[in-house]
Amino acid sequence: MIAELIRENIKNLKPYTSARDLYSGGLLLDANENSFGSVVSREGLALNRYPDPHQKRLRQAVSNLTGVPENLLFFGVGSDEIIDLLLRIFCEPGKDTVIIFEPTYGMYRVAADINNVAVVELPLSTVFQPEPALLGTDAAAEAKLLFLCSPNNPTGNVIDKKIIGAICKDFAGIVVVDEAYIDFAPEGSSVINEVGNMPNLVVIRTFSKAWGLAGIRAGYCAATELITETLFKVKAPYTMNVLTESVILEAVTQSEAVRGNITAIQNERTRMRKELPDIIPGIIIYPSDANFLLVRFNNAATVQQRLAEKGIIIRDRSSQKGLADCLRITIGTPEENTILLQTLAGVIKEVTL
Ligand SMILES: Cc1ncc(COP(=O)(O)O)c(C=O)c1O
Repeated sequence: MIAELIRENIKNLKPYTSARDLYSGGLLLDANENSFGSVVSREGLALNRYPDPHQKRLRQAVSNLTGVPENLLFFGVGSDEIIDLLLRIFCEPGKDTVIIFEPTYGMYRVAADINNVAVVELPLSTVFQPEPALLGTDAAAEAKLLFLCSPNNPTGNVIDKKIIGAICKDFAGIVVVDEAYIDFAPEGSSVINEVGNMPNLVVIRTFSKAWGLAGIRAGYCAATELITETLFKVKAPYTMNVLTESVILEAVTQSEAVRGNITAIQNERTRMRKELPDIIPGIIIYPSDANFLLVRFNNAATVQQRLAEKGIIIRDRSSQKGLADCLRITIGTPEENTILLQTLAGVIKEVTL
């Protein structure tokens, strides 16, 4: 039962009632807004008014996009906010635990640490898949939340849907599947439309990657109604601001153009996979369904540093479990990738001299 997983104080919480919960139209003198308006204006936007706490238009837009019913959707200030809220809803600080499969996105651990929630760390397999059998220990069975990332950051691979299904079935807690990079993966890789069938599944998405909108801070999740209702209960009243909302509502009308960018990034990913080994014979490039490549070098730290000295910044991931000497390269524009390849060729010559 999902309800039993929710912290007692959250179950009993009487949420804040905002002015816009009660009335959204009329002569609005109820929220201590400034009726004189703002010195800055944006056409069509009431910047002096608080935004919609129910995120109605955002949920409608993403429902049209994904096929997930509106009442199963919730928006956050980036998916990072949703990760934090889920921890606060389900995990008693200093008592409960969460499971992460390493190597993965670092914020799951940081968010758990911030909330004083202990982490049970399990290894991904050699092909970076979670092994449900590892959940058999007492420590794992007692965890409240489990994070999966598909495609996984920084390894790049999609998590097998059958494995996600098996974990949702066997694990008694909440299974969070972070699909930040799913738009770069083959069609059919997502589990978002399973939220109706699996009550303990939460799927998180973001507008920061394929949609190119990292600067406006918008992520969302799909989950059973009990979970979305609880997220609405605990969030601050006005998280999704008027400017962000207007950008998202415009962006979703341009999904063809977004598709075009995704295809271009996928093509560049293929090109980089092909051209990198010509420059550095013997490197290992892991399979990627995301907008980055994980590459194993002989001397990652030196390569990363030399590139940085020349103004080209890629991410050293070699301190993560199982990723010794691995660098993560975000796929850029064709021009950016050409510069990276050329500079890397020079750096590799210097380093091996
Ligand atoms: C796996 C994963 N999830 C979530 C995020 C954060 O997304 P947002 O910008 O929506 O907070 C990132 C950012 O790099 C990520 O890699």
